[in-house]
Amino acid sequence: MLNGPKRQERVAVFISGGGSTLQSLLEMQHQIGIELVVTNRRNALGVLKAKRFGKQIVYFNKEMTYEKLSQLLIQNKIEKIVLAGFMKLLPTDFLQSWKNKIVNIHPSLLPKYPGLNSAERCWEDDEDMGVSIHNVIEEVDAGLILLQQTSLNKPKKVEFSEANIFLRKTEQHLLRELAIRYY
Ligand code: GRF
Repeated sequence: MLNGPKRQERVAVFISGGGSTLQSLLEMQHQIGIELVVTNRRNALGVLKAKRFGKQIVYFNKEMTYEKLSQLLIQNKIEKIVLAGFMKLLPTDFLQSWKNKIVNIHPSLLPKYPGLNSAERCWEDDEDMGVSIHNVIEEVDAGLILLQQTSLNKPKKVEFSEANIFLRKTEQHLLRELAIRYY
């Protein structure tokens, strides 16, 4: 007997920037049910991308608290959250409420190079560059690693801009894997 289609989980994607990672997820809409896009930057390019796909946008502005955001996510029956270049640290209460339900995409081979400017720091040190997708816990970039892939060994053999293109391609690939395997 054939299996019916898998029920899609309802996902919110949090962004702050260009939204290239969001775009990869939006292009996987048969695999991942993105219901909401949350942003703390009204003018983020990613907002345009979300609108192009007809997604509802939630602005995390001054009037919005994490408690309100959590309620809004629950009202919208959100089950999972993907941080796709969201540049704000989530507070403990929010993390507790959404425990094991938030993943983050990070541009390094964790546990190496957590934190900001990871790709630049890897390249500077000529250390292997790559991407990790991990569960989000309180400690920054430290949760269980779900997917990880190297994008370039000895990256200083090319300019940073070129190394970054390899990294971006790996991000897109891993996000597609995430959509297929986890949602
Ligand atoms: C990506 O490099 C991602 O790995 C990191 O933030 C960046 C987001 O880029 N967490 P974009 O805004 O999706 O283009």
